[in-house]
Parts: sequence; C-alpha cells; structure tokens
Amino acid sequence: MNTRSQLIHLYQGELSVVISTRGNVPSIVYWGSYLGASQLSDAMFLRPVLGGGIDFDAPLAMIPQHHDGWLGIPGLEGFRTDASAMFAHLQISTIEQSNTSATFELTDTHAGLAVVLRVQIDAGDVLAVSATLRNTGKTSYNLNALRVALPITASANEILTFGGRWAMEFGEHRTPWSDTTISITNLRGRTSHEKWPLIFAGTSGFSEQQGEVWGCHLGWSGNFEITADGVTEHHKHLLLSERLVAGEIILQPGDSYTAPTIYAVHSTNGLSGASQHFHQYVRSLPQHLETDRPVIINTWEAVYFDHDLKTLTALADVAASIGVERFVLDDGWFTGRRNDSSGLGDWSVDATVWPQGLTPLIEHVRSRNMQFGIWFEPEMVSVNSDLYRKHSDWALHDANYEQITGRNQLVLDMSRADVRDYLYAHISKLLDAHDIAYIKWDHNRDLVATGAHAQTLGTYELLDRLKRKHPLVQFESCASGGGRIDFGILPHVSRFWTSDSIDALDRTLIQRGATRLMPHEILGSHIGSRVNHITRRSHSLAFRASTAIFGWLGIESNLLTAPPEEIARLTEVIAKYKSLRPLIHSGRSFNEDHPDTNIVVHGVSNSDGLSTIVSITRLNNGQSNHIDPIRIHDLEPQAEYRISPIYFGTPAFSPHRQLPQWMEDASFSMSGLQLQQIGFICPPLLPASSFIVMLERVMS
Ligand code: DGJ
Repeated sequence: MNTRSQLIHLYQGELSVVISTRGNVPSIVYWGSYLGASQLSDAMFLRPVLGGGIDFDAPLAMIPQHHDGWLGIPGLEGFRTDASAMFAHLQISTIEQSNTSATFELTDTHAGLAVVLRVQIDAGDVLAVSATLRNTGKTSYNLNALRVALPITASANEILTFGGRWAMEFGEHRTPWSDTTISITNLRGRTSHEKWPLIFAGTSGFSEQQGEVWGCHLGWSGNFEITADGVTEHHKHLLLSERLVAGEIILQPGDSYTAPTIYAVHSTNGLSGASQHFHQYVRSLPQHLETDRPVIINTWEAVYFDHDLKTLTALADVAASIGVERFVLDDGWFTGRRNDSSGLGDWSVDATVWPQGLTPLIEHVRSRNMQFGIWFEPEMVSVNSDLYRKHSDWALHDANYEQITGRNQLVLDMSRADVRDYLYAHISKLLDAHDIAYIKWDHNRDLVATGAHAQTLGTYELLDRLKRKHPLVQFESCASGGGRIDFGILPHVSRFWTSDSIDALDRTLIQRGATRLMPHEILGSHIGSRVNHITRRSHSLAFRASTAIFGWLGIESNLLTAPPEEIARLTEVIAKYKSLRPLIHSGRSFNEDHPDTNIVVHGVSNSDGLSTIVSITRLNNGQSNHIDPIRIHDLEPQAEYRISPIYFGTPAFSPHRQLPQWMEDASFSMSGLQLQQIGFICPPLLPASSFIVMLERVMS
C-alpha cells in the first residue's frame, strides 16, 4: 500500500480537522482543538505495522473499505444482481479544498461506482459531512448502506445517548466505551421517541462543564443507525448512516443516493460547550427567525376535539387579555374528526361543527391582535375517511398483509407525487383562503414493515413546496411530541413540539435532553393545567412557568375554567417571560454540574455578557434540605455580578428560619471568579420547584 499521503488541514475557530489521503482514500486522522499553523507530517499519524495481520496498517477511511485492509463494518455495502461490486474499492480521483472544506471525488471504475464526499466546517465550528453515491455502471446497484466514519480520540471512554418513549423523550443514557461496540438502530420510520440520532463520546466522567467531548448528529427524520466501534484495528470511531431496508434503494445506471448529512462538534469544556456549537449552527440558518416568537395558546389540552365557536372565541378573548400572541387551533377542525378514529385525510373544514367555516374564529382571533395557527397531520389517513374510501391504494402498506393501524390510522405513501399533490392542494387552499400564520405539522404513528427513505424525502419535498408558495407561514414539526426533532427537517420548520408531556418535573429533564442539540427558541414549551393531563401530577404555577420559560412559550390549558388568581398570575408570567425572551432566545445556554443529582442547574448568558439567567430545580427530596452552592462558569472572572431572584409565583422553600443572607440584600454581588469557585448559596427548595436568579454585570 502507498503510505505517502497528502495531509489536508481544515480549521476554523477552535477546531482543526486533519484528513490524510494515505492509500488514496480520505481518512480523518485528527478531529479536535485547533492545532495552529505549524507543519503537520505523516509521521505524526503513521502507526507501526503489526505482526499477525495484513501487511500494512489499515486506515480508518471516512468510507471504510475491506480493500483498504479495513475489516470492520464497511462504509459502503451493496451489490449488483450478478454478485459483483460487493466490495467496491473507491479511490480518490479529485480533491478540491479550502481552509474550511474539502470535497473528494472517489471512484471505482471496475465496480461502476462513484462517491462525492464533502467535509465542511460550518457556522458554530460544526463539521458537516455529506456523501452522494452514483451508479456509473451499466446495471442496477442495490445499496444496503452508505456509512461515514469519524474517528474519536482513544481517551473518550464514555458514551452518552438519548431516548425514551412517548411523553418522556430525550432521556440520557451513559455507557462506558472501551473495547466494546455499541450500536443504535431506529426502524420506526420517523426520528422517533425511543432513539435519537445524537451521540456524544467523551473523556472519563465528562460532564456539563468538564471533559473533552465529541458529538455527532445525523440530520435525518427516518430510520438510522449509529455504531460506536471501540474495537476494530484499535481505532475508536463512530459510524453514522441512514438505516435502509433490503431492496429499498436500487440505483439504476446514472442514479444517485445522497446520505443524510452528519453534523459533528468538538468541545474541551464538556457538554455545554458541545451543545453551544450545535446552537450556533442552528442560529446561522437562513430560516431561523429574527423576530420575537409569539406566545402561543394551543387548544389541544384546553378542549381536545370538542370544537365550538362560542367556547373558542371566549378562549381567544382570555388568551389575548393575558398577553398571548398566537392562537393555535389543534386537531378536530376538519371533516369527520370528532375523535381520533376518523377524518384524517379529509382536509376541509367540518361544516357540522363550523357551519360558517373558520372565518368567524380567525377574524375574532385577528381582531384580538393574535395570529392564527392550525393543526394538520398530512402524512396520515384514517381508515374511516373519504380519502381512504376513494384512494385506499395511497396508504403505505403491502396489500397482501393485514394492515397494522396506529392511533386508528394508516400512513400515506409520500413518495407518490399524486399523494403530495393532493396534500399540497388541500393545505394551500386553506392557507389561501385564510389569514393563517402557522401550521403545526403532526405525525402520530410509527411506520411498519416499510422503508422510510422515499417517505422522508417526500415529506421534505412537500414542506418545501408549501414554504415556497406560502413563505410567511411558519411550520412546527410535531410527532406525538418530540418524535421528529432533527436537522433533516429543521430547514423546513421554525419550531418543534418538544414533548406531549408538559408535566414540569418531566419537562425539566426532557428539555435538558432536547437542548443538547436545539436552542431554546425553537423548542415549544407550554404551561399546562395544574393537574397534568398525562402524569396526573399536580404542580404549582410557579414551577410550571419556571420550566416553560426556557423555550418558545405557550399556554395549553382551558383558561375558561381557570380561577381568576391563576389568570392574574399567568398575565404576570407572560409579561415577565416577554422581558426575558430576547435573552433566553439568543443567549448561550449552559448547564452546570452539581454534586446532588436531584438538582438541575441550567442557565443562559447574553452574548454581550451583561446578564445571565440561572434556574435551579430540585427534582426530588434529598438527604438534606441544604443545597450545595451553585457554581457558574459562563462569566467574566474579573467582572462583578449583582444577584437577584426572579419569582414566577410564591417561592417553594422548605421550612426555614432564615433564607440565605444575600437574598435580603439588593446590592449583593460576587465576582465571576467567586461565582465559579465558591458559587452562590441556594435557598432550601422543595421538591418539584425551581429558583431563578438573574446575574447582572455591574458596570464600573
Ligand atoms: C399529538 C400532538 O403531540 C398533540 O400536541 C396534539 O396535537 C395531538 N397529536 C392531536 O391529535
């Protein structure tokens, strides 16, 4: 094997990525902190050739291949029906590069395959890697997988992954990672609640603020596969790809397949630093809203399917009076939709419930100075619907087998142009006829016994087409809550519904997980009823509000039955939130480590460094009512900060004779260094409560 190589050094901000072309394949040999301008050489990366194996040291190519001596999971898997091209050997034919990007054309003329592999450092020092495979041969090629490998430094010996279930998404799972292989496969046809295409690897005990961390996200809303291989050739690496089912992608001569883009970040200051890179990238995207995001009222947990003009106009009146800025009519407005067993697909206004159409409600909402938004679930069809009676062949299923319904519904085949045209026409018609600012786009079931590639692309295409026709309409991605939150759908939407659980206690952890990837401002977080509809737990308004303000705020409860004190307090909460909104929606968010795992410390610092908001939440009761000091890192060490509590209701402190002294001294301040080293003293919080403070830099 040719051991001479070109080294390509990509760099930006704090990041360096070095790509070697040894063996005429691109391999990332370094991904980490900026290396400076000094010359790099092959000798820094070449390992000895060991006995007992093949006669050279196999490179971990970005698309690993058996022909390079790599005997782990290959990057490209596929075949032609004559059993050729099973092990292609793609070699670099051209390279284009700059300081921040490199594009490799890889070809195998014998196998009739070519790949364009692009590595680019984007905004936020996010490394974006994309690959497109083309069949340059004369027969069809069955693609099983196109995976990209990213090396992880050997000292990363722990893995953090995410998952859960409906109404309890983004739970965090830690696994030691030494000589082991960990793999995550999602076959549910949407991003899913159970598994999330986000993984972090880091040095021992990496935490909110400590440790070197590498993070990878696959920007895709369908099936996926992530493998953390700590075994093969003693090269720790992550492999990320779409998970294809056999026969799903058959490339005819000239056809191409583009793999979902991988987004990768590196941080030397723990998970908070890693997430900040993702957030900066999201904020750099053209569709990221520059304007204030309106406070929402959503009708779902207020009235469910019980739509009635009189009730909803009354709800709109109360909502407007407390400061709500957008009224969202959720599920239940269209033909035959009196419960979840019927109607999906029949996207016209139900004349029995809305005899004068939606105009009276929309005009009423607009007259109260609120925007109007509406719910759709375009990719679904109810068995009991006119659409299904007319076009049962539009459902995505194998007609030879009994169909499995989910929430009584089937899935439409979004790869069909006629299905998309139908949906486009119906959604557009409603948007043309009314003043609608927003669509909540739901997806309430998993896909069964089918691939998800064409389905996912079909949805992206439809969203794209609708956005082009209605550029001012904002879309929200919802999939029974947080089942479709990813960078694949992100270019098409402005908001994500984080979870169907708005139980503040669960939300504390759900939102912590979701903000590992997405910034606050695009994650919907609503204040629900005192007794939560899903967990049946009861939480104070102060706690519900303190949790919900760290997101795009909404209200989701029946304000018509709320006692006057709750309405008055909600009015105050919304006003306070609006004053904090610019900070929470544009600042740097972080979490702090705390010795007590019952305590969650989360904060946001303004980019000008003048103000930082910090929330301390006690999840459960603990051994002691004392809470260890809250140390904050994201501050200027030499600057002085005034500390003051912000209350969203009556404080929930356990029995005490005296609160921390500083709480009674409006002029109390600490330096950034003191806050980092000593921390501030926290009052004795009750379980399921939060304490919020503002740190304001004192200008000398
Ligand atoms: C699931 C969503 O997550 C809810 O917020 C609500 O829109 C329902 N679907 C409506 O069916």
